[in-house]
Amino acid sequence: MLKGRSLLEPMDFTVEEYEEIFTLADQIIEEPGRFRETCRNHLLATLFFEPSTRTRFSFEAAMLRLGGKVIGFSEPGSSSVAKGESIADTVRTVACYADIAVMRHPKEGAPRVGAMASDIPLINAGDGGHQHPTQTLTDLLTIRASKGAFTGLTVGLCGDLKFGRTVHSLMKALSRYPDVRFVLISPEELVIPDYVRKEILQKNGIPFREVRRLEDAIGEVDILYMTRVQKERFFNEEDYVRLKDYYILDGEKMAKAKLDMIVLHPLPRVNEIAVEVDKDPRALYFQQAKYGMYVRMALIMKLLGVTEEASERKGELSC
Ligand code: CP
Repeated sequence: MLKGRSLLEPMDFTVEEYEEIFTLADQIIEEPGRFRETCRNHLLATLFFEPSTRTRFSFEAAMLRLGGKVIGFSEPGSSSVAKGESIADTVRTVACYADIAVMRHPKEGAPRVGAMASDIPLINAGDGGHQHPTQTLTDLLTIRASKGAFTGLTVGLCGDLKFGRTVHSLMKALSRYPDVRFVLISPEELVIPDYVRKEILQKNGIPFREVRRLEDAIGEVDILYMTRVQKERFFNEEDYVRLKDYYILDGEKMAKAKLDMIVLHPLPRVNEIAVEVDKDPRALYFQQAKYGMYVRMALIMKLLGVTEEASERKGELSC
């Protein structure tokens, strides 16, 4: 039962609960009109302490497309946080007005602090370099739609594997499916953190190898998950400038990939995928961004415990 729960990190939900969300997302994609009134009596609060385009807009679009309403801020300076209010007090207050909340914050663990202070479902929309569980739902829905299943895949993760929270969350989620193998493609300075190596890969006996050059891995992967170098997490501008263009996926490299490989990217992209790749049918990153809205529609419905049938009955009664 997902009703009333928060989503703070990918392992908060079981594989079966993920499947429940994906099944509902499939239905929404198939017939979006059927769901346009399901949340009409509900309010979503978006608390974004860091910039966002996809996550914030897709959550807001998701709630509006379900007939619900949205309040929130994308600029923390406009909230009482600027006066020194704590995360706990902010979320506790927001919970007086909204039925469900989404939070992005630069500090790892901030959404968990918020969830502990409130009695409404709280969704982590990205906390520092830690986790981004709804991006993972987005990534998995895209993989599922394209590959049909998660088992037996060789997944190449390329770029900033140190600070890239989407990578950490995706690895965690995929570690629960059989026969998944990772190829970790990063510069020495941006390898995956030790805790990911120990707690996800070594603990679960997941096969992986680490390479520096994209050319050495692109031919063997079923999924290539590109990431940008996370400028905002660097302490030193010089290091960022040196590493930012370390990988650039272009047409020449795509020619070395499997014909049924898919390219994903959580976006935003900077230079790591050349625009010429966008027209390649294997480039699914904008499709992925669209799936993000549908899977968030399904997630909101599940956490609020609303169903299409219940909204139809309410509609009948209120007429
Ligand atoms: N993928 C993602 O989190 O994008 P935004 O930063 O634009 O929300």
